[in-house]
Amino acid sequence: MTTLSAVKTLPPEIGRIVLEPEQIESRVGELGKEISRDYRGRQPLVVGVLKGAALFTSDLVRHLTIPLDLDFLAVSSYSGEPDIQPIQVLKDVGGDLTDRHVLIIEDIVDTGLTLHFLVERLRARKPASLEVCTLLNRPDLRLVDIPLAYEGFEVAQEFLVGYGLDFREHFRDLPFIASMRRQDREPAE
Ligand code: IMP
Ligand code: MG
Repeated sequence: MTTLSAVKTLPPEIGRIVLEPEQIESRVGELGKEISRDYRGRQPLVVGVLKGAALFTSDLVRHLTIPLDLDFLAVSSYSGEPDIQPIQVLKDVGGDLTDRHVLIIEDIVDTGLTLHFLVERLRARKPASLEVCTLLNRPDLRLVDIPLAYEGFEVAQEFLVGYGLDFREHFRDLPFIASMRRQDREPAE
């Protein structure tokens, strides 16, 4: 397999490559087909969650064969202590969501707290439907149940970077998804 990973110099903090660009690309294509089939006859509002899902969202929409509208929203990082630092919306979805078919695009669902917060918030705006598509799903640490209509890959309990996912804002540009070396793993800020 051609490895695009060879194109970029690997930073020393990067451990094992978990998903090669070709694997991501192929799965994104499959998800695109699935979503296009399910949403035939509808014009969904696709909402990417910044910044992590920026790359995934922009690749995915190019595989969708249905008409769609594209928007993004941004939330503050979840600190792990919701009472101390609640999740905040930094950029919201604009416009009226009534009767819209909203499809949220996430990079990774871990505890599910971020997505739970977003889903509840968007649901209050009475969309006709609200579904979630996540590239990565890490079910082991789930605290709240979130129905995931579309899921790219299930991943294990290790901190991942690349293809939009960051460690302290670094490594989002990597074309692959890799684990961090153990000594460098720290919780997100
Ligand atoms: P949750 O609220 O615990 O589900 O966390 C979801 C958010 O945490 C994601 O949108 C990511 O921004 C971030 N996150 C969770 N796991 C990772 C990881 O392994 N690498 C990078 N970011 C992560
Ligand atoms: Mg995120």
